[in-house]
Amino acid sequence: MKIVVLTGAGISAESGLPTFRGAGGLWNGVRAETLATPEAFADNPQRVLDFYNFRRAMVREAAPNAAHQAIAALERHHPVSVVTQNVDNLHERAGSTDVLHVHGEIMLARSSRNPGLKVPMQDQDIRLGDLADDGAQLRPDVVWFGEAVRHIDESLDRIREADRFLVVGTSLQVWPVADWVHHATRAGERVIIAPELRTCPDHFEWICGTACDEVPPIMSRWARSALAD
Ligand code: OAD
Repeated sequence: MKIVVLTGAGISAESGLPTFRGAGGLWNGVRAETLATPEAFADNPQRVLDFYNFRRAMVREAAPNAAHQAIAALERHHPVSVVTQNVDNLHERAGSTDVLHVHGEIMLARSSRNPGLKVPMQDQDIRLGDLADDGAQLRPDVVWFGEAVRHIDESLDRIREADRFLVVGTSLQVWPVADWVHHATRAGERVIIAPELRTCPDHFEWICGTACDEVPPIMSRWARSALAD
């Protein structure tokens, strides 16, 4: 039985990492275009690096929570793929082995000229003047608005083949990922967990609760269930 879990910022909220929208969200009172676009980086690189250095430090301090751990533990029973919009590494640190970061990874830096030229950036800040091997300024290896979302084909393949599909902690307001939920047509159960949601996609059960409360019982139930259930 193939399981796919699509996650957003809300799954890491109980690990202490802020979401983007809503009270306390990173985009609350801030125009995302001033921090998360190639133009913003060209205009004020220090401001952009400060924002991502701050967030990288928060990720370092954070630990995977019960939701990340329950998703990873399900791999003992079924193949599990995680498609995440999150740039943190909490799924991997919980033990998940198939994680597609469609919006990039904050613990990597890359050349601002050559997207393929990456270096690990775990314990330090990216500073102005830190250069990649091609001589270009390093930048966070995250996807900014106007840049291409990654792993689209692999994500859609996994979602289309899923027998069970769980969506956790995303407002489904950012494209193209918001549209991907409509491709889980084979999944016998489609569940979305979030405390608030503007609209619940068709054919989904919406569980209005938090990731740490609601994900572990669903993962336990799916661990026990065979495809015929
Ligand atoms: P959002 O901040 O848009 O949405 C977070 C969702 O998580 C909301 O629906 C909340 O109700 C829910 N939530 C909050 N706390 C939760 C909890 N404890 N348990 C479960 N759910 C909870 O975040 P995303 O949908 O991930 O992109 O945002 C998508 C993209 O927008 C991000 O990847 C980022 C941002 O701009 C880029 O930076 C490219």
